[in-house]
Amino acid sequence: MNLKSSEEKIQYLEKLNQEALLGGGKKRIESQHKKGKLTARERIELLIDEGTFEEIGKFVTHRATDFGLDKQKILGDGVVTGYGQVNSRLVYVFSQDFTVFGGSLSETYAEKIVKIMDLAMQNGAPVIGLNDSGGARIQEGVVSLGGYADIFYRNTLASGVIPQISAIMGPCAGGAVYSPAITDFIMMVENTSYMFVTGPNVVKTVTQEDVTAEELGGASTHSTKSGVTHFSCANEVECIKNIKRLLSFIPQNCEETPAMLPYEAGDEVRKQLDEIIPTNPNQPYDIKEVIEGIVDGGDFFEVHKNYAENIVVGFARLGGRSIGIVANQPASLAGVLDNDASVKGARFVRFCDCFNIPLLVLEDVPGFLPGTDQEWNAIIMNGAKLLYAFSEATVPRITVITRKAYGGAYDVMNSKHIGADMNYAWPTAEIAVMGAKGAAEIIFKGEIKEAKDPQAKLDEKVDEYTEKFANPYIAAARGYVDEVILPHNTRKKLISAFSMLENKVGNMPRKKHGNIPL
Ligand code: HXC
Repeated sequence: MNLKSSEEKIQYLEKLNQEALLGGGKKRIESQHKKGKLTARERIELLIDEGTFEEIGKFVTHRATDFGLDKQKILGDGVVTGYGQVNSRLVYVFSQDFTVFGGSLSETYAEKIVKIMDLAMQNGAPVIGLNDSGGARIQEGVVSLGGYADIFYRNTLASGVIPQISAIMGPCAGGAVYSPAITDFIMMVENTSYMFVTGPNVVKTVTQEDVTAEELGGASTHSTKSGVTHFSCANEVECIKNIKRLLSFIPQNCEETPAMLPYEAGDEVRKQLDEIIPTNPNQPYDIKEVIEGIVDGGDFFEVHKNYAENIVVGFARLGGRSIGIVANQPASLAGVLDNDASVKGARFVRFCDCFNIPLLVLEDVPGFLPGTDQEWNAIIMNGAKLLYAFSEATVPRITVITRKAYGGAYDVMNSKHIGADMNYAWPTAEIAVMGAKGAAEIIFKGEIKEAKDPQAKLDEKVDEYTEKFANPYIAAARGYVDEVILPHNTRKKLISAFSMLENKVGNMPRKKHGNIPL
């Protein structure tokens, strides 16, 4: 380099900047577009507010020399890192560039990611990772594995300190999956992304199963079967829209509360809520109608929409305040709690508690799902996760029992006994150890057996049990329910109660950390 004048030096810098923008070159960019994928920089452009992105480490190149790599250096080395704003709030971002060595991770590439993660933790703002990578840079060997571990370690340190969001927009395989797995939310793009620990070829060799990459670890698989991804997005644009929407509900870090939106009082009474619960207690209804009837603008941002549909979780606003909602869904498996629903609910509760997002629980639960499948897959431990997560949550917590609150599930679903701040019930609530028929069959077994007409006796005893327990008034008399409310007033009550709880200081006993039953 022999640059003499200032002008030459400026021109040289401009040339380098242009070169860096091209990543792996025009041909590879075209090939990326042909696959229906955007480039690393195009994704950042969509995500970050115009004119606010500042790149860090644009001229970084790798230090490897083996396998001819010393002759192949590309500015940026396969990942674009930096900071900018999303809806005027600071975020840190890394975007893996598949056009450079297949987005594979080298020592210096990992260092770039680590740098922005450290900055994000020090300055208290979210990290967003846009993943599109062939995994460890094969030519670098253990140095690349070390780089991954440096990132996993940061992911863990940052957990609960700043929100971390992962978008999977291409391959994400092998140990590389463990960084997204530790982050708070994963979004996958349908048909162009996949995640697995071992790919279809290894699966075929080891288990003789024939499976495509899409079947094994595509967005549809992970959003319905495994629950690994929280969102399955039709395309990259939708994925980035979802990231922005998600960010709008959450604060920048664990020291902040989510921003309040302006709210004009006047629409608190929602008459439609009076008509949702069917007269027949075994008839299903859609809990999302209740949610929409309660929250601001009927606007609910559902998380994990297609996984464990018997529990519904997501974000909404109530009187301008961001809240997390956990609700049993009577329209799916009668709203029963099973392994998947318990784990789904527990993880969401813990996220909300990490980031000071108050919790609203809508309860209509007939109990835990019986069966060998459930028991052998550890419903004991999984149900305990949900119980533990609610019990340790110190954010404001309110429950509304819309209908059934039966058995252990009554305790688990944010009862007052495990620290809920307010517990409301609708007049349609039934709070008991179990449903009336099952209860009558057990406690009046002898009487029913000896009766001249056992069926008539059973009916009589079911009526007796129903009359006694299929209501909210015994719990209200004990104070386990703070108030029995008219459904159409639910929104009004909740806005007032969350406002009353806004300065809650919830302390847990001093400890290093708890030992949630994993
Ligand atoms: C170096 C890589 C690479 C890698 C891809 N490339 N993966 N270079 N290290 N891991 C390069 C290719 O040589 C090619 O270079 C370019 O990227 C694009 O790759 P293609 O194969 O042409 O693309 P495509 O057909 O779309 O296939 C993408 C792919 C495939 C499925 C990801 O490239 C692939 O299988 N790569 C290897 C994946 C892998 O085994 N990674 C290691 C996993 S183990 P040119 O110059 O031709 O454009 C791992 C451990 C992490 O990651 C452990 C952490 C604890």
